[in-house]
Amino acid sequence: LSKIEVKLSEIPEGKNATFKWRGKPLFIRHRSPKEIETEQAVTLAELRDPELDADRVKDPQWMIVIGVCTHLGCVPISNAGDYGGYYCPCHGSHYDSSGRIRKGPAPQNLEVPPYEFINEDLVVVG
Ligand code: FES
Repeated sequence: LSKIEVKLSEIPEGKNATFKWRGKPLFIRHRSPKEIETEQAVTLAELRDPELDADRVKDPQWMIVIGVCTHLGCVPISNAGDYGGYYCPCHGSHYDSSGRIRKGPAPQNLEVPPYEFINEDLVVVG
Protein backbone atom coordinates (compact mmCIF):
# COMPACT_ATOMS: atom_id res chain seq x y z
CA LEU A 1 0.00 0.00 0.00
CA SER A 2 1.32 3.42 -0.85
CA LYS A 3 -0.70 5.16 1.85
CA ILE A 4 -1.57 4.14 5.37
CA GLU A 5 -4.29 5.55 7.61
CA VAL A 6 -3.70 5.54 11.35
CA LYS A 7 -6.21 6.17 14.11
CA LEU A 8 -4.34 8.29 16.62
CA SER A 9 -6.60 7.66 19.62
CA GLU A 10 -5.26 4.09 19.70
CA ILE A 11 -1.76 5.27 20.60
CA PRO A 12 -1.49 6.17 24.31
CA GLU A 13 0.56 9.15 25.43
CA GLY A 14 4.21 8.26 25.91
CA LYS A 15 4.00 5.30 23.56
CA ASN A 16 5.47 4.62 20.15
CA ALA A 17 3.44 2.51 17.76
CA THR A 18 5.04 0.74 14.81
CA PHE A 19 3.28 0.23 11.50
CA LYS A 20 4.45 -1.01 8.15
CA TRP A 21 4.55 1.43 5.27
CA ARG A 22 6.05 0.74 1.85
CA GLY A 23 7.90 -2.22 3.29
CA LYS A 24 9.49 -0.19 6.07
CA PRO A 25 8.69 0.27 9.73
CA LEU A 26 6.83 3.48 10.43
CA PHE A 27 6.99 4.97 13.91
CA ILE A 28 4.22 7.14 15.30
CA ARG A 29 4.93 8.48 18.74
CA HIS A 30 2.43 10.15 21.01
CA ARG A 31 4.73 12.52 22.84
CA SER A 32 4.14 13.63 26.40
CA PRO A 33 4.21 17.33 27.33
CA LYS A 34 7.61 16.75 28.91
CA GLU A 35 9.03 15.17 25.74
CA ILE A 36 7.67 18.03 23.66
CA GLU A 37 9.21 20.58 25.99
CA THR A 38 12.57 18.77 25.95
CA GLU A 39 12.74 18.53 22.16
CA GLN A 40 11.59 22.09 21.58
CA ALA A 41 14.39 23.33 23.83
CA VAL A 42 17.16 21.63 21.82
CA THR A 43 19.24 24.13 19.82
CA LEU A 44 20.72 23.54 16.39
CA ALA A 45 24.24 23.80 17.80
CA GLU A 46 23.67 20.59 19.78
CA LEU A 47 22.79 18.57 16.72
CA ARG A 48 24.81 16.56 14.21
CA ASP A 49 22.05 16.86 11.61
CA PRO A 50 20.64 20.24 12.63
CA GLU A 51 16.85 20.39 12.44
CA LEU A 52 14.52 22.10 14.86
CA ASP A 53 11.77 19.98 16.35
CA ALA A 54 9.24 22.42 14.89
CA ASP A 55 10.48 21.57 11.39
CA ARG A 56 10.07 17.83 11.97
CA VAL A 57 6.53 17.67 13.33
CA LYS A 58 3.23 19.15 12.19
CA ASP A 59 1.60 18.74 15.58
CA PRO A 60 4.02 18.58 18.53
CA GLN A 61 2.04 15.72 20.09
CA TRP A 62 2.81 13.44 17.18
CA MET A 63 6.23 12.47 15.90
CA ILE A 64 6.10 10.48 12.69
CA VAL A 65 9.26 8.95 11.21
CA ILE A 66 10.56 5.99 9.25
CA GLY A 67 11.96 3.47 11.72
CA VAL A 68 15.15 2.76 9.83
CA CYS A 69 18.50 3.73 11.36
CA THR A 70 20.39 6.05 9.04
CA HIS A 71 23.64 4.24 9.77
CA LEU A 72 23.15 0.81 8.17
CA GLY A 73 19.42 0.33 8.27
CA CYS A 74 18.58 -1.57 11.46
CA VAL A 75 15.31 -0.89 13.24
CA PRO A 76 15.83 1.20 16.39
CA ILE A 77 14.16 0.31 19.69
CA SER A 78 11.71 2.89 20.99
CA ASN A 79 11.78 4.61 24.40
CA ALA A 80 15.41 3.67 24.79
CA GLY A 81 18.87 5.18 24.63
CA ASP A 82 20.51 8.14 26.32
CA TYR A 83 18.00 10.63 24.88
CA GLY A 84 14.87 8.59 25.60
CA GLY A 85 13.73 8.45 22.00
CA TYR A 86 15.18 5.52 20.10
CA TYR A 87 18.23 3.33 20.38
CA CYS A 88 19.71 1.33 17.54
CA PRO A 89 21.32 -1.77 19.01
CA CYS A 90 23.29 -2.67 15.88
CA HIS A 91 26.12 -0.20 16.49
CA GLY A 92 24.77 2.06 19.23
CA SER A 93 23.06 5.08 17.74
CA HIS A 94 20.94 7.19 20.08
CA TYR A 95 18.03 9.26 18.75
CA ASP A 96 15.86 11.73 20.64
CA SER A 97 12.05 11.97 20.75
CA SER A 98 12.14 14.06 17.61
CA GLY A 99 13.98 11.21 15.83
CA ARG A 100 17.18 13.23 15.65
CA ILE A 101 20.56 11.55 15.88
CA ARG A 102 22.32 12.56 19.10
CA LYS A 103 25.08 10.01 19.63
CA GLY A 104 26.64 7.05 17.85
CA PRO A 105 27.59 6.38 14.22
CA ALA A 106 24.38 7.29 12.36
CA PRO A 107 24.92 10.37 10.17
CA GLN A 108 21.37 11.65 9.87
CA ASN A 109 18.07 12.06 11.65
CA LEU A 110 15.34 9.48 11.14
CA GLU A 111 13.46 10.37 7.97
CA VAL A 112 10.12 12.13 8.21
CA PRO A 113 7.69 10.75 5.59
CA PRO A 114 5.00 12.84 3.93
CA TYR A 115 1.78 12.84 5.96
CA GLU A 116 -1.30 14.84 6.71
CA PHE A 117 -3.86 15.00 9.46
CA ILE A 118 -7.34 14.35 8.11
CA ASN A 119 -8.96 15.25 11.41
CA GLU A 120 -8.05 15.19 15.10
CA ASP A 121 -7.94 11.42 15.18
CA LEU A 122 -6.73 10.41 11.76
CA VAL A 123 -3.44 10.76 9.97
CA VAL A 124 -2.62 9.56 6.48
CA VAL A 125 1.00 8.76 5.73
CA GLY A 126 2.15 8.60 2.12
FE1 FES B 1 21.95 1.60 13.55
FE2 FES B 1 24.44 0.93 12.80
S1 FES B 1 22.56 0.40 11.87
S2 FES B 1 23.81 2.06 14.53
